[in-house]
Amino acid sequence: MKQAAITAVGGNVPNYVLTNQELEKMVDTTDEWIISRTGIKERRILREPGKATSDMAAAAVLQLCEKRGINPSEIDLLICATVTGDLVFPATANIICDKIGAKKAWSYDIGAACSGFIYSLVTGAQFIKTGSYQKVVVVGADKMSAILDYQDRSTCVIFGDGAGAVLLEPTEEEVGIKDFILRSDGAGMQHLHMKAGGSLMPPSHETIDKRLHYVYQEGQAVFKHAVYNMAEVSADIMRRNNLKAEDIAYLVSHQANKRIIEATATRMGLGPEKVLMNIERYGNTTGGTLPLLMWDYEKLFKKGDNLVLSAFGGGFTWGSVWLKWAYNSK
Ligand code: UT7
Repeated sequence: MKQAAITAVGGNVPNYVLTNQELEKMVDTTDEWIISRTGIKERRILREPGKATSDMAAAAVLQLCEKRGINPSEIDLLICATVTGDLVFPATANIICDKIGAKKAWSYDIGAACSGFIYSLVTGAQFIKTGSYQKVVVVGADKMSAILDYQDRSTCVIFGDGAGAVLLEPTEEEVGIKDFILRSDGAGMQHLHMKAGGSLMPPSHETIDKRLHYVYQEGQAVFKHAVYNMAEVSADIMRRNNLKAEDIAYLVSHQANKRIIEATATRMGLGPEKVLMNIERYGNTTGGTLPLLMWDYEKLFKKGDNLVLSAFGGGFTWGSVWLKWAYNSK
């Protein structure tokens, strides 16, 4: 059976930089608190009216196509991981395809919050491995600023906006996605969710007055589950594939909190030189963190490098992916 390999990466972040210093003027917080508790210094915010998640995603996919030298019309399938779709329906993936002219593609969204990208990557890889498709694009994109309460210091300092995308293609070589562990537990919903706007509590004057259309997070509870579960699946994927710390080139971890990432790396036995981070510049972009990390660090990766991707997020959802990088970037 063929392997599914990442053959190109694209990314897009908005121009506006929201710094910790600016947040100090908006809510009762400090640069020192944010950096010491999360590692975040600044995040990007999509402020242009009329622009949405699909705009960042479309730019990321177009960049990826240009880098790989393909036309969007060659894409067979596009999967978008997001919790901030342009509209409740249709799927943002459909809108992205229309914006980039991916006329042949079919497309759908996956809603797995911060684990959305790895869920989508694994799902997309199956269509390649079975031989159904030749070109699958997996996008992780979120405009978190659309669902943040900028009066709630416990959430508004953490998240940012951004999009990343990868192209999956078949290969006969010993590279590509080798193994994955995916998990979910709906009992975690109580700790991280958005209360209104869905079928449980449709929008009303009351839901707006009560500020229920924003991210609700019990930080400490999520933190504990994230540290335990992300470390567990990352160590598990190494164990069951006989991968030692020296075999791993880089940990590509969801960027929610520097302390969670470091705890995961410690459990895997990895030194700081193998731990990729860009949380200080973008914050937590939910679906966007993993492809944006690969976009930022693509030049470091060499063909055959073992990468472990791991994520934890709302749902709860979590998981890890072991892949062998498929190319040396130019
Ligand atoms: O990506 C999806 C998954 N999400 C995550 O993985 C996030 C997991 N959670 C976290 O990363 C951390 O829990 C946070 C960064 C959200 C919070 O850090 P913490 O160290 O867990 O802080 P805390 O919630 O325990 O709050 C400690 C104190 C509280 O004050 P008191 O009650 O001790 O007086 C908060 O009110 O810090 C206060 N606080 C703040 N202070 C200044 C909360 N937010 C802020 C803030 N600035 N922005």
